[in-house]
Amino acid sequence: MFATRSTEDEWMDDANAGEPEFALALEQLGTINRLTFAFRPVISWLDRLVKQTGATQLSILDVGCGGGQMLTAIDAWARKRGIAVTLAGLDHSPWAARYAEAHNVPARMITADLFALDPNERFDVILCNLFTHHLRDPQMVAFFRWCEARAGRGWLVSDLHRHWLPWGVVWVGFRIMRFSPMIIHDATVSIARSFTRAELEQLLAEAGVAAEVRWVFPFRWNVSVVRDA
Ligand SMILES: C[S@@+](CC[C@H](N)C(=O)[O-])C[C@H]1O[C@@H](n2cnc3c(N)ncnc32)[C@H](O)[C@@H]1O
Repeated sequence: MFATRSTEDEWMDDANAGEPEFALALEQLGTINRLTFAFRPVISWLDRLVKQTGATQLSILDVGCGGGQMLTAIDAWARKRGIAVTLAGLDHSPWAARYAEAHNVPARMITADLFALDPNERFDVILCNLFTHHLRDPQMVAFFRWCEARAGRGWLVSDLHRHWLPWGVVWVGFRIMRFSPMIIHDATVSIARSFTRAELEQLLAEAGVAAEVRWVFPFRWNVSVVRDA
């Protein structure tokens, strides 16, 4: 079952998903991100990027940003560190932008498929959390090249490690915690659609991109590039 990436569709990717269930899923994803310490590896990577590049101002794009909770966490980090940030979030669901705007996420929201983004849009940093497992392998290769072409200082992909242990914990735990049907369905599908290290390294090789692949707690991969100043 876990030998290869699943191709089962997530309910979140159904264009007919209604706003109430999508918004509830975004709300609960925020809770899951907090419970699984998802902001921490992204923030410590940003710390590393700032240290390595000496940057004091950054334009940052969050791809597949959902409800924008990561952007809010980045805004708080930037204020604390005295970094001037210009934040943008990209998501193809119109419900994501509406959710983020209703929750005062301090970012410009772009509603578009990532591959349809204006080619002139470039950022110092591109990052994403729990997003890339939505892409099939050829799109992943294209996405790595897309990040390379559009991110001046660096990029980070933070996503799940496909493994039976988190799959089992999530299957049981999310039912006990009474998450919504969309989250209960998509959470295990997300893990099954995710990656092993060997797959990420193979996809990077196909893209012709040299990036660091790092395992982070709990059962995540951080794939990243930082360009020295
Ligand atoms: C699992 S959610 C993660 C949301 C957010 N990053 C978080 O951590 O809570 C994945 C998001 O990616 C968006 N998405 C999926 N495919 C996309 C694409 N091709 N272009 C833009 N957004 C996409 C979905 O609409 C969804 O909001």
